[in-house]
Amino acid sequence: MNNKIDILALSGSLRADSFNAKLLAAAQNQAPAGATIEIYDYRDVPLYDGDVEVRDYPKAAQALKDRIRKADALLIATPEYNYSVPGVLKNVLDWVSRPYGDSALAGKPLAIIGGGGGQGTNRAQDHLRQIAHGLDMQVVRRPEIFIANVWGKFDENGTLADPIANKLIAELLGNLAGMARAAQAGDVKAAA
Ligand SMILES: Cc1cc2nc3c(=O)[nH]c(=O)nc-3n(C[C@H](O)[C@H](O)[C@H](O)COP(=O)(O)O)c2cc1C
Repeated sequence: MNNKIDILALSGSLRADSFNAKLLAAAQNQAPAGATIEIYDYRDVPLYDGDVEVRDYPKAAQALKDRIRKADALLIATPEYNYSVPGVLKNVLDWVSRPYGDSALAGKPLAIIGGGGGQGTNRAQDHLRQIAHGLDMQVVRRPEIFIANVWGKFDENGTLADPIANKLIAELLGNLAGMARAAQAGDVKAAA
């Protein structure tokens, strides 16, 4: 009997029509058996400020931190901004990694997808993997999913209409759920 897996999804884009948010919606439709995917809107988290952290840790950052703690795994869909991750995404990762020694991210299983221009966010994803390494997260290594020219991959209803992308997302989510179950079982070696 498989345990339930609670996957929390973050989009690196705050745009209402974001293709990366749509990739998360596509992932929701392909959640593995026993897993749920909730997309979290973090736009009310302020800019990181070390003085504010010490004085009055923001409620919106604390709410995200608590929600991440509760989740079994994270799924991030990131665009590429100037060869890296959007600042808004890095900002919330910074907040929930604080205070020092009390990160919500250490050990958390993470899967990454992204859609953008000709290189399909590969440079942003490389940076995100490095950030996740610094945060001591457990990153699903394969498949890597770089959706190039993402604006052409959706039909008129906003549904991801690329069969290869859909298949890879299903595979990635299966691996993420497997990693999360291994982590739940305390099997750190398998989870890593
Ligand atoms: C500030 C900024 C920088 C960008 N830099 C890149 C880039 O380096 N590489 C790339 O492929 N696309 C770049 N783009 C284009 C984004 O890939 C494109 O806008 C994408 O649709 C954004 O994702 P979204 O639809 O989820 O908002 C950039 C867009 C913005 C707003």
